[in-house]
Amino acid sequence: MNGAKGDMRTDIKRLAIESARKAGGILKENLGRRKSVEFKGAIDLVTEVDRLSEDFIVGEIERAFPGHGILAEESAEKVKASPYKWIIDPLDGTTNFSHGFPFFCVSIAFEEHGKVVLGVVYDPMMDELFTAEEGHGAFLNGERIRVSGTDSLDTSLLATGFPYDLRSSKENNIDHFARFSIKAQAIRRAGSAALDLCYTASGRFDGYWEMKLRPWDVAAGALIAAEAGGKLTDFKGGPFSIYGRECLASNGLVHDQMVRILTKEEQ
Ligand code: IPD
Ligand code: CA
Ligand code: CA
Repeated sequence: MNGAKGDMRTDIKRLAIESARKAGGILKENLGRRKSVEFKGAIDLVTEVDRLSEDFIVGEIERAFPGHGILAEESAEKVKASPYKWIIDPLDGTTNFSHGFPFFCVSIAFEEHGKVVLGVVYDPMMDELFTAEEGHGAFLNGERIRVSGTDSLDTSLLATGFPYDLRSSKENNIDHFARFSIKAQAIRRAGSAALDLCYTASGRFDGYWEMKLRPWDVAAGALIAAEAGGKLTDFKGGPFSIYGRECLASNGLVHDQMVRILTKEEQ
């Protein structure tokens, strides 16, 4: 991390890890308990537990770093003028969570002057903590991770997800999904973009694509995948941005093959 100096960097990393672990504990202890669910859209929901987790993380950050910006999924953006911004998904995989399907996580990223320099993703059910700092590699529970060495789509396990407007928009990924289905070894739609990126980082998936994501879905996971040696672009192979609409992440070796499917160069 360049920019924030010495002790502040250490404090930021410690706070991100401790809050992700504690918020993950909140998710785990509430799994399967009956909770109220509200709908943000036809199939886009939010539970009390998303808010509990977010309030906890935001409270910790505000106490330790009152001047920092905070972009968290369930509240309006705070302190927009700061060069430092925390980007938080307090529960990535809400649909899974609300059905008791144990695949979800907490995602916390730290951005400096518009660049993500720290990413932390915690899966409380597997007790897996994925971390990365810009320029220092990616780790799973403290052990270095790397993307896979699979070099053909034919033998690749891929991941994807579908946007919440898939009932009303034609741009809903079903076309890409259909084409990848007959090119890849298999595809998973596990329901957490942040974990999909971390699984790509750790070689469990060889590639992952999704559209219409939000910065909190991808900020931490994209840095973790990049620091694990992965490649991130948009669907055409152009620059990736956490604020953009397309995310293509891979081990690098199958990237061009994935771009050819997404651009429909290859049927
Ligand atoms: C969702 C998950 C899902 C992805 C959706 C996201 P949420 O986040 O990451 O895998 O397909 O596009 O919005 O709503 O559970 O935080
Ligand atoms: Ca999310
Ligand atoms: Ca969420």
